[in-house]
Amino acid sequence: MEQLTIKDIPQKDLENRRVLVRVDFNVPTEKKDNKIVITNDLRIRASLPTIRYLIGAKAKTALVSHLGRPKGFDSDLKMDPVGEKLSELLGKKVLKLNDSVGPEIQTVINNLKPGEVCLLENIRFYQEEEKNDPDFARNLAKPFEIYVNDAFGTSHRAHASTAGVCAFLSPCLGGLLLQKEVDSLAKVLTNPIRPFTTILGGSKISSKIEVIKQLIPKVDTLLIGGAMAFTFIKAKGGKIGNSLYEEKIIPLIKELDLLKEENAVALILPEDMVCVKKGDLDNKKPDKELIVYPVDKIPDGYTGLDIGPKTIEKFVKMISQSKTLFWNGPMGMFEDPQFIGGTKAVAQALVEATKKKSITVAGGGDSISALENLKISFDLFTHVSTGGGASIEFIEGKNLPGIGCLDKKMSVTSN
Ligand code: 3PG
Repeated sequence: MEQLTIKDIPQKDLENRRVLVRVDFNVPTEKKDNKIVITNDLRIRASLPTIRYLIGAKAKTALVSHLGRPKGFDSDLKMDPVGEKLSELLGKKVLKLNDSVGPEIQTVINNLKPGEVCLLENIRFYQEEEKNDPDFARNLAKPFEIYVNDAFGTSHRAHASTAGVCAFLSPCLGGLLLQKEVDSLAKVLTNPIRPFTTILGGSKISSKIEVIKQLIPKVDTLLIGGAMAFTFIKAKGGKIGNSLYEEKIIPLIKELDLLKEENAVALILPEDMVCVKKGDLDNKKPDKELIVYPVDKIPDGYTGLDIGPKTIEKFVKMISQSKTLFWNGPMGMFEDPQFIGGTKAVAQALVEATKKKSITVAGGGDSISALENLKISFDLFTHVSTGGGASIEFIEGKNLPGIGCLDKKMSVTSN
């Protein structure tokens, strides 16, 4: 990473200093017996190395995050359950505050002892956060001296706590999660060990079209699964029955085909699909009758919802022959156990590839949910990204404001 991280400055420069750390604790929750429960703590665990490092350096640390997309205060989106989970994971009490800006925060931060950690309230309770309001950013920064961004998953947002605050604090450093995310994705994209295969899935090709364009010049093979494959099949004149596709993307498929040819890339589409009768799908039957059809010969009244056995065999073989693998998006409607087979086979093939020392990077909210449904540990991959939209924008080559605002290594060494 080009930006300075907390490990690039002497530890003594953090001692006793008041440090504001932007984390992405936007974790999935559900309400059970009137209590908000965290259903997946990956994002909290992922920032532990940064928090532990700051505790070890005897900094006075305040963590700030958003949770959900509140429009003003929302008691269901308070950070209290996150604070409890964090205290449990750290084995150390984390003081949860009831606000994120204001004179009370200043007092609490001043009174923190070196090595103590507190958690501010949901920053999106203030509308000024998403507007990147400069006065709000100044107030947020006021009690602090140093800024650390460890919120890779939110670094594509130009908000007060992810970008604006940098105008008022110095130095502005990357956290250890941010560094791991950037380095893992950059390693895959800039200098992959070949063959390099990317597996893309999910339902909407419109959200991945830029990613595909960026990846084609870099990869050797691109495997396309999930409902997004149907737009390719439809563009080639195949019969896809009632399967999902995006009409407005069809003209762009020719462009992708041209790009693929110019770069001599193998773009591999599914051969067969697990399909279901439209009526069965509408009735949400738990044991629907499944029929496998060739992907371009699906009769009207049938919908393809997962890649079929021939496709699985082909994809698994390609994965086992690759040395660098990037996976984003499920192969089918994995939320229904009847259509998780393709995603399971791809995930397991990636786990096998990791065991054989291939580099495996997975990302995207749905891929993470699928791994959880399958009870496949993230440790069985080289890296599982905590970023959904952020990892997509990173691969698209966009500048992420939460990273761009941090101090660059060169700018400091030349001073
Ligand atoms: C995410 O979950 O992708 C990040 O936390 C960003 O959340 P947002 O899409 O609500 O900005």
